[in-house]
Amino acid sequence: MSKLSVLSVLIVALAYVIADRAPTWDFCDCELLEWSQWSSCTKQCYGRHHRDRKVRLTDKEGCTEYTHCVTDDEGSEWQDCNTFCYNGGTFLFSFIGCICVAGKHGRCCDKTVTCATPSTPDNGRRYYSSLNYGSTVRYSCNHDYRMTSGSSRRKCKDNGGWSGTMPRCRYVNTCSSNPCKNGGRCINGVESYTCQCQPGWSGINCENDIQPPVMTGCSDDQLIYTRHTTHNVTWSIPQFSDPFNKEIRMVTNYPEGFVVAPWGDHVVQYVATKPFNGLQTECKFTVKIRPHPCPELNIPINGARVCNEWKIEYAQVCLVYCYKEFILQLGSYKAQQWYICGASGNWLPPGPLPNCTMPNIKIISEKDSPDYQYNSCHNDAIKKSYIKRLKASHQNKLCTKHPDECKADNVSVDC
Ligand SMILES: *[C@@H]1O[C@H](CO)[C@@H](O)[C@H](O)[C@H]1NC(C)=O
Ligand SMILES: *[C@@H]1O[C@H](CO)[C@@H](O)[C@H](O)[C@H]1NC(C)=O
Ligand SMILES: *[C@@H]1O[C@H](CO)[C@@H](O)[C@H](O)[C@H]1NC(C)=O
Repeated sequence: MSKLSVLSVLIVALAYVIADRAPTWDFCDCELLEWSQWSSCTKQCYGRHHRDRKVRLTDKEGCTEYTHCVTDDEGSEWQDCNTFCYNGGTFLFSFIGCICVAGKHGRCCDKTVTCATPSTPDNGRRYYSSLNYGSTVRYSCNHDYRMTSGSSRRKCKDNGGWSGTMPRCRYVNTCSSNPCKNGGRCINGVESYTCQCQPGWSGINCENDIQPPVMTGCSDDQLIYTRHTTHNVTWSIPQFSDPFNKEIRMVTNYPEGFVVAPWGDHVVQYVATKPFNGLQTECKFTVKIRPHPCPELNIPINGARVCNEWKIEYAQVCLVYCYKEFILQLGSYKAQQWYICGASGNWLPPGPLPNCTMPNIKIISEKDSPDYQYNSCHNDAIKKSYIKRLKASHQNKLCTKHPDECKADNVSVDC
C-alpha cells in the first residue's frame, strides 16, 4: 500500500443517492476530488452518461477503502443525455425510445418512411415524384385499355406500403375487329364484345339466320250464314316472304283460295317453310258456314210451345198447345198450324205464337174438345201427340230421315 494512496473505485451502482459521509471521514482525513468528465452518451437520443470522482485519504491503518470516506455510490453518477427526438417525436421510456410522428421512424425519429418504387401496370403507366411518406403515385391505362380494378391513386403509408391495390388495365376496344355479322351492332366490353343482332339473326356474331317466313294477309276466322246448303266462301291468300330473299315454299289444303262447301266448319291452312333454316310460319283459320239462326219464339199465354229438339240447325218445327179449357181463337189461327224456321232464319208463318184464350161459348161435349189441349205441361202426352202429328205432316222428313231421334224424349215443351 502507498503512503498516501488514492483509491480509485469503479462504481456500478445505478441509483443516485445523496452524498453520505462515512463515520471515518474525519479520522481518515477524507477529501472528495472533482468529478471526472461525463462519459460520452450511450445513445444518439435519450441515452445516458456517467462520471466518476475519487477520494483522497491518509495512509492510516483502517483507511484503505473508498467506503471509509463515503458510501459506495457516491463515486459515480448517471444522467440522461441527448434528451431529444427528431422531427417532433416524443420520448417515452428509455427502453422504448422515441415515439415518432407519422412518416418518421428510427430510434430517434430521424429517418423518413419511404415506400418501394411502385411497379408499372401492364398496358398502363404510373407517375410519381417522391417515394416518401404521404406522396402519391398515379396510374393511367394505355389507349384502348380501361382500368377495371385497383386504385388509380395510391398513397405512401406510414408502414412503408402503398394504399389501395395495384390497378389493372384491360383491353376494351374489342369491336375493332368488326365481329358482328349481318348488320349486328357491336358493343365494346372488357376483353369481350356483345353483338346486338338485327331481327332475324342470332348467335354470338349474329351468324345464325333465325328468320321464319314473314306472313302478311292471313285471313281471320269467317262465319257465314246462308239459306243455301252450299256456299262459295273466298278469302285472300296470305303472302309469305323472306327479308333476306331466301326461298320460301308453301303448302295449303285450299290452293284456289275459295271453298264451295256445305254447312259446317272448314279449317283452312297455309304452311310456309324456309328450307334454309327449316323454320315455318302457318296461317290457319276456320270458315264456318251456317244456316241463318232462327229468332226465339215466344211461349204462348195459357199454352205451350212445342218443338223438335233434334236437327234444329236444319229446321225448327213448332206447334202451340193450350192448357185445359183454353183455346186458340178460331179464324185467326188454325190449331194444326205449324211454325217452321229453316236455313233462311225466318219463321213461317212469322211469329209471334198466338195466345190461348177462354172461349166465349163453353164446349160441352168431350168429343168436341180440341186435341191440342193438355192437362199437365210435364207429362209425355204433349210430346207423344207432337210426334204423331209430325209424322203425319209435310215436315215428316225430320222423322223419316232421323228415326232414332224422332222420339218423344227429343221434343221440347215450354209452358
Ligand atoms: C267461287 O268464287 C271464286 C272467286 O270469286 C271463283 O273463282 C270460283 O269460280 C267460284 N266457284 C264456284 C263453284 O262458284
Ligand atoms: C234424341 O234422343 C236420343 C235417344 O232417344 C238421344 O240419344 C239424343 O241425344 C236426343 N237428341 C236430342 C237433340 O235431344
Ligand atoms: C199474348 O199475350 C201477351 C200478354 O198479354 C201480349 O203481349 C201479346 O201481344 C199476345 N200475343 C198475341 C199474338 O196476341
